[in-house]
Amino acid sequence: MNHFELRGGELHCEDVPLSRIAEAAGTPVYVYSSATLERHYTVLRDALRSAGLGEPLIAFAVKANSNVAVLRTLSALGAGADVVSEGEIRRALAAGVPASRIVFSGVGKTAGEIAFALQSGVAELNVESEPELKLIDQVAQSLGQRAKIAIRVNPDVEAGGHAKISTGKAENKFGVSFAEAERLYANASNAAGLSPVGVACHIGSQITDLAPMEAAFSKMRGLVERLRGQGLSVERLDLGGGLGVPYFNQPAPPTPSDYAAMIGRVMAGLDIAFAFEPGRVIAANAGVLVARVLHVNARPQGRQFLVLDAAMNDLLRPAMYDAWHDIRPVTPRPGPPVTYDVVGPICETGDTFTRDRALPPLEAGDLVAFMTAGAYGAAMASEYNSRLLVPEVLVKGADFAIVRPRETYDAMLARERPAPWL
Ligand code: LLP
Repeated sequence: MNHFELRGGELHCEDVPLSRIAEAAGTPVYVYSSATLERHYTVLRDALRSAGLGEPLIAFAVKANSNVAVLRTLSALGAGADVVSEGEIRRALAAGVPASRIVFSGVGKTAGEIAFALQSGVAELNVESEPELKLIDQVAQSLGQRAKIAIRVNPDVEAGGHAKISTGKAENKFGVSFAEAERLYANASNAAGLSPVGVACHIGSQITDLAPMEAAFSKMRGLVERLRGQGLSVERLDLGGGLGVPYFNQPAPPTPSDYAAMIGRVMAGLDIAFAFEPGRVIAANAGVLVARVLHVNARPQGRQFLVLDAAMNDLLRPAMYDAWHDIRPVTPRPGPPVTYDVVGPICETGDTFTRDRALPPLEAGDLVAFMTAGAYGAAMASEYNSRLLVPEVLVKGADFAIVRPRETYDAMLARERPAPWL
C-alpha cells in the first residue's frame, strides 16, 4: 500500500498534488511519502514481532535511499541502518541513528573506513572474507579496541531475480562458505582485536519467492547450532534484506507477514537476537520520480517517442537492469491509450525508460510519475551529461519540504580546480 492516489483527477502524494511540488522544486524531482515509509517500516516490524522473533534490529539498507530526511523519518520509529561505506555511516549518524544500531557491511572496507566505524562505535562489522577479518583485527588492535564482528556467509542458493543483484551463489563475490565461516569464527574468538558476536547472510534483492530464503535461513540456523555446539557464543543472526516489491507488471511478491511467518517457523525455539537489512521493501513504493514531457515526437514509421526531462542519470534502473516502472500521468487526459517509447534526453539509446508502453494520451508540458522509485532511484543518480543532480522532496500530510535542493551550475563548476599548467 502507498499514499500516491488520484484525487480530483490529479495524482497526489498524501495530501499534496504532485503538480504543486513540480512547480516548487522543478522537474525532474523525487517525491517521498512519509506515511508510506512509516507504514512499510511498522508493518514489517509488527510482522517480525508477531512471528515470535523478539524485538529485532531492523537496519534500513541506506544504499536504497540515503537521503538524511528519509533516514531520520525511519530512525524516529526505531530503525537502525545497514551501511556499506564511511559516507553511509556519516549519513546514518547525521540522521540520528544511534551507532549501536548501525551494521557495517560490504566486501571492500578500507582501513580508514574500519577505523572510522570502530571510533564511531557501530554495533557490528559484517566480515566478508579472511583478508578482511585480518585487517579489522589489525585496525582494532591499533586503536586498542575489540571489534564486534559477524561473519557473512554465502549460503550458495539461487535466489532468482536479476543476475546483477543476485548475491547468494558461491560464485558471487560476497561472504564465505559455511565451512570457512566455522573456521573464521573460531579464529576470531582467539584474536586480540576481534569479538565475534554473530553470523549474517544476504542472498540478493527483489526476491519474489520465499523458497530460496527459507533454504538459506535453515542453513544459517544449522551454522548457529554448530558454532554453539563447539562452545562458541553466538548472540546475533542477521538475515539481510532482499524481499521484493510489486513493480506492477509482476505477480504479487510475498507479504512481510508471509516472510516473517516463514522465518518464525525456521527459527522456532532458537534463542538469538535477530537483525534484518531491508531496503527496497521499505522505500521503493514510498517514492516516485516526477518528470515533464518535453516533446511528443511522432516518427513516420509509427513510433511515438515521449521525450522527458528525466534521463537515465536520474533513474538508472531501466537502463541498468531492464527494470519496469509503472508510468502514470499526473493529470490523466481522457482518450484511448497511445503506445509510446519513453526516453530521456541523453545521447545514447540506453537512455530509454520503456518501449511500446500503452499510456493515456500525453502532450508536451504534461507531468508523469515513475512509480516505485523510492529505492535505488535518487541513490543511484549521477550528473552524467553534466545534468544537475536530481532534487528530493519529502511529503508529510499536507506539508512538503525540499530535502535536497537541485544543485546550481555554479556549485557544480565550483567543485573543480584548474590544473596549474592550464
Ligand atoms: N544488505 C546487503 C548486504 C545488501 O547488499 C543489500 C542490497 C541489502 C541489504 C538491501 O537489499 P533490499 O532489501 O533492498 O533488496 N540497485 C539494485 C539493487 C541492489 C541491491 C544491493 N544490495 C536495484 O536497483 O535493483
